[in-house]
Amino acid sequence: MTQDEMKKQAAWAALEFIPHNTIVGVGTGSTVNHFIDALASIKQHIQGAVSSSVQSTLKLEALGIPVFELNDIDSFSVYVDGADEINPAKHMIKGGGAALTREKIVAAVAERFICIVDSSKQVDTLGAFPLPVEVLPMAIAYVQRQLNKLGGEAILRKGVITDNGNVILDVHNLHITDPLALENSINNIVGVVCNGIFAHRRADTVLIGTVTGTKIIN
Ligand code: A5P
Repeated sequence: MTQDEMKKQAAWAALEFIPHNTIVGVGTGSTVNHFIDALASIKQHIQGAVSSSVQSTLKLEALGIPVFELNDIDSFSVYVDGADEINPAKHMIKGGGAALTREKIVAAVAERFICIVDSSKQVDTLGAFPLPVEVLPMAIAYVQRQLNKLGGEAILRKGVITDNGNVILDVHNLHITDPLALENSINNIVGVVCNGIFAHRRADTVLIGTVTGTKIIN
């Protein structure tokens, strides 16, 4: 079974967790693209979606799923998204697709975060995947110096502008033993919009596509 087939398996398994007549929070990425295909198969049973990126919005609309503005909704029950890494405490690194800020905002409003991944995303300690940090363009050099002081090597992601008009610094060589503390520390650097550690808002349920079927961790 390929990595993409495992992503697809986890994505389709998420349908079990979607209540009828609800608005569904939708993340971004190749695993979520499978989830949007799955969601389209039950679109008559949901009200629509709240999206975390232009990319996901376009795909949702192309498949006939209404997309609501987050500001028009008080709350919704389920947010479904992928991750670049997830540890046993269900803390994640996200942002490989540069959508981390909107993902973190939509996830914050949701009652439940369902993370859909293939088995390669499971790690004991976060950090082998370079940590994405969204930064205001005028602060790139300053933020880079501050991130390097934390022990990493922050490298500008070339050719990428986020949906919010900012840039991404990818921080290499981190070994994140305290995700909650590092998430706070990076948020405190002036010029940082958001960082890709999802520890304060971690996953509630993880669906892992494996060669022997989908594993569920609650
Ligand atoms: C998007 O910015 C990311 O947070 C994605 O959720 C993450 O990179 C997982 O992507 P894939 O599903 O493409 O592996």
